Amino acid sequence: MHENTQKITDIILKAAEKARRETRDEDQKLRAGKSIDWPIECTIGPGLEGAIACDSKVGYVDGSKGWLVYRGYDIFDLCAYSSYEEVSYLLLHGSLPTPDQLEAFNKKLVEYRYLNKTLRLLMGFPVEEMNAMGALRMGTILMRQEFTYRDQEAGRPAIGDAISADEDSIPMETAPTGEAKAIYEFNAAKKARKRKKMLGDASGLEACYHLLAGVPTITAAISRVRQGHMAIEPDPQLSHAANFLYMMTGKRPTPVQERIMDIALILHADHGMNASTFASMVVASTLSDIYFSVGSGIAALSGPLHGGANEQVLHTLKEIGSPDQVADWVQTASKKKKKVPGFGHRVYKAYDPRARVLGPLAGYRMRYCPEDIVKLYKTAKELERQVFRTFGHEKKIFPNVDFYSGIVYSRMGIDPSMFTPIFAVSRVAGWTARVLEYLQKNRIFRPRAMYSGEFEREYVPLEQR
Ligand code: ACO
Repeated sequence: MHENTQKITDIILKAAEKARRETRDEDQKLRAGKSIDWPIECTIGPGLEGAIACDSKVGYVDGSKGWLVYRGYDIFDLCAYSSYEEVSYLLLHGSLPTPDQLEAFNKKLVEYRYLNKTLRLLMGFPVEEMNAMGALRMGTILMRQEFTYRDQEAGRPAIGDAISADEDSIPMETAPTGEAKAIYEFNAAKKARKRKKMLGDASGLEACYHLLAGVPTITAAISRVRQGHMAIEPDPQLSHAANFLYMMTGKRPTPVQERIMDIALILHADHGMNASTFASMVVASTLSDIYFSVGSGIAALSGPLHGGANEQVLHTLKEIGSPDQVADWVQTASKKKKKVPGFGHRVYKAYDPRARVLGPLAGYRMRYCPEDIVKLYKTAKELERQVFRTFGHEKKIFPNVDFYSGIVYSRMGIDPSMFTPIFAVSRVAGWTARVLEYLQKNRIFRPRAMYSGEFEREYVPLEQR
């Protein structure tokens, strides 16, 4: 192991030791859970708070203690010893891969990182002007087209396929007009399709691999285009994290950058029934497919109360300006009852274990950082201190996963608009693992709303209103 990446491992082990000291006692051993005997009684708040919708073996969060477990493995151990490739395999399959399984899985990822057809279609849109999460969501749906021919099976050729029938045509050429042209293009599409092997079901494991490998490719391409550059081809020699950074920045990362990105991806891979996971499961439960499902996860993740908070954190830190302005800013925010981005969590009422790792990584070897990053980091540290003093301690509001991740990514030269897409790149593992698991005992999601409206209102014709 590279000397400096060993130092990163030491940082994680230190954070783990502190977490264990503060949150565990010897009597509290974690034991395997049980499946549910339905129906179940639970106390439910608005927004389904407290509701139990399914049982799952994918991951466990204890918010009161600040524990996070994937498939039985403590998050700190996975960060210290594992890789995102292993962790995503673990989440999908339930056990860590053997060397042969990992090699086969890596081969799949390498193969699926090439998304020529998807990118060609996506680049026909004004990606540089679009919200990055919106572009990513669209790219994910276009990936579906590259993977499956389901629309044709239903006897209805999709516009996307018709357009890309001619592999050399510019993307987003106008949709076929006139019967003769349409028939020509659709036939050409069929021929092109025959040349490719049929890949299979868009809700199966293969589609999950395709998304795991492809979402980073799309994210990197969006990032490049927004900076006025061309997308870069994947490098099959690089790890998942290193290749992702390479495709985003155009530079092969240092071992430390690769290791830190790998850890960030591990930390964001799964987190119980959070809003975006729930969104993707709701869509899957209708027997829609995994691409639509992941597309919905991306949409839900984009909001500032969820994954969008990481971008907001950086804007807030910049708005505050410097550590000596934090106290005043927090007082004003507190008076206005303004939520501080990157703090608080629906589940954690203790320090988020992911922030325990990302905090020290954000500050790693700070003396080598440019002045503006040092300022951001110092402002963040002071904000954490002031929030804790002012109301955090009393309300149990701690930094969450989004608080330090932005500084970590900024140090790699990544633009804030790409922070939430990076979250999505990682969370594809959790979304797909939970969807696959849920589909084994699928039941369409259908909670109720309590009607609090009126009855027997008399219809008034338009001209009388
Ligand atoms: N800043 C200030 N006060 C806060 C914050 C915050 N970030 N978060 C919660 N509080 C306060 C609330 O105002 C409330 O105070 P009150 O009891 O005096 O009314 C109390 O703490 C309880 O908060 P809730 O709103 O009930 O917490 P909830 O579980 O509904 O919300 C949420 C969780 C949405 C994450 C919230 O903490 C928040 O908006 N945080 C900022 C956005 C953010 O960082 N989101 C990312 C979360 S992590 C993720 O999704 C990946």
